[in-house]
Amino acid sequence: MSQKIFIKTFGCQMNEYDSNRIFDTVKKIGFEKTENFEDANCYLLNTCHIRDKAKEKVYDDIGRVKKSFRFREKPIVIVAGCVAQAENQEILKREPYIDMVVGPQAYHKINDTILNHIKDKKKLEETEFDTVSKFEYLSKIKNNFSKVSSYLTIQEGCDKFCHFCVVPYTRGPEYSRPYEQIIKEAKHLANNGAKEITLIGQNVNAYNYEKYKLSNLILEIEKISGIERIRYTTSHPKDMSEDLINVYKNSQKLMPLVHLPIQSGSDKILKLMNRKHKIRDYLKIFEKLKNINSNIEFSSDFIIGYPGEEEEDFDSTIKLIKDINYINSFSFIFSSRPGTVAANLKLIDQNISKKRLEIIQDLLFENQISMNKSFEGKTINVLVENLTEDKSKTFGRSEYMTSVIFNGKKEDIGKIVPVKIKKSNRSTLFGNIVESYNQKVA
Ligand code: SAM
Ligand code: SF4
Ligand code: F3S
Repeated sequence: MSQKIFIKTFGCQMNEYDSNRIFDTVKKIGFEKTENFEDANCYLLNTCHIRDKAKEKVYDDIGRVKKSFRFREKPIVIVAGCVAQAENQEILKREPYIDMVVGPQAYHKINDTILNHIKDKKKLEETEFDTVSKFEYLSKIKNNFSKVSSYLTIQEGCDKFCHFCVVPYTRGPEYSRPYEQIIKEAKHLANNGAKEITLIGQNVNAYNYEKYKLSNLILEIEKISGIERIRYTTSHPKDMSEDLINVYKNSQKLMPLVHLPIQSGSDKILKLMNRKHKIRDYLKIFEKLKNINSNIEFSSDFIIGYPGEEEEDFDSTIKLIKDINYINSFSFIFSSRPGTVAANLKLIDQNISKKRLEIIQDLLFENQISMNKSFEGKTINVLVENLTEDKSKTFGRSEYMTSVIFNGKKEDIGKIVPVKIKKSNRSTLFGNIVESYNQKVA
């Protein structure tokens, strides 16, 4: 009888990549994927711990599964990801319905863990940091999850210890995968139809393997036949080295959107956060990149209401957003995380934080809307990813990652096509494929 696994993923791109690799792994012991959790013999929740309520989300979710399987044989229930790492044994104690807890650096052990559980029904926990073995193991199992736009993990973990952040505790120390292993995986993705590769890591620009850096990877991957676009995320301003900045001069395929989280526009707050960079350093990077190519645009992450944030610090954040003119960004109210340095700091008034978040988001949305409006009437290159859900149109992305919906055909999937933009809203551009393109193809 075939076994079915249902995988639910919360969190960042790393978790999405991990979920796909977990599936590639459990396939080896006979699991097929199901999109309907009620059909599953194995329910895996890949969790995120970055902001609060993460833990509660896990128990709520498992509660729903428990209810649905009330009168049937229960599936094997696995909690993976960053909550698994942070809470480990606690999870098994609190919810006996959960069978296994597997941390992000132990996925290579997942098949043995599942088979052992099937054999003796024991509760199991695997949360050691064993990143080297994990990637050695995974590199032997092909990454079969090629989409037009695919993720490729090149680096994991973090040594920076920003005072608000759980990542160094949940993902462990910084680790860079061997260069050749990454190139091999990129070639495999390209052979399976990937046209865009996003290199990912918690600190992707800290990549450092023997003599190779992120800049070397980008320049090598762009030689791979079939690869048309390269992106990377998430980067830290401190690791925005000269060689990486210069790749924007030399690369043909690196996209002109730089996601460079700043968190706050105030040096005082950056220091309190232990960010290891100043606004001045950030602006220098901005200027250098704009000098290389004035079409390069920026996006960022902001934490609002960090302990100690005063009105003038907040004003500095607003000023920075106006100076850089971010085209797209994420902003969150500071969330106190157990085990981090900032967990012990006094919170600012939460009503003030909420108000500030509203102001910041309005400003960021305004930028986004006006950037999208600026494309109306213009023709842009779109990498076609899919048909829309109702199959009546095609969906793709601009060079700046903006969603584009237009009147393409199924055969356009995987191609870069010119689209004339007619309309836009905050998140999407709408247009028509340029007629002469269709004629040329025909
Ligand atoms: N390594 C990246 C960097 O240094 O910019 C960030 C990776 S983190 C997974 C993604 C984002 O989550 C951060 O940029 C930050 O804005 C947000 N974040 C992390 N911890 C947070 C917290 N305690 N409260 C609110 N937002 C948080
Ligand atoms: Fe977290 Fe990024 Fe800071 Fe590392 S550099 S601790 S991942 S916010
Ligand atoms: Fe969340 Fe872990 Fe990613 S905490 S943001 S899933 S690294």
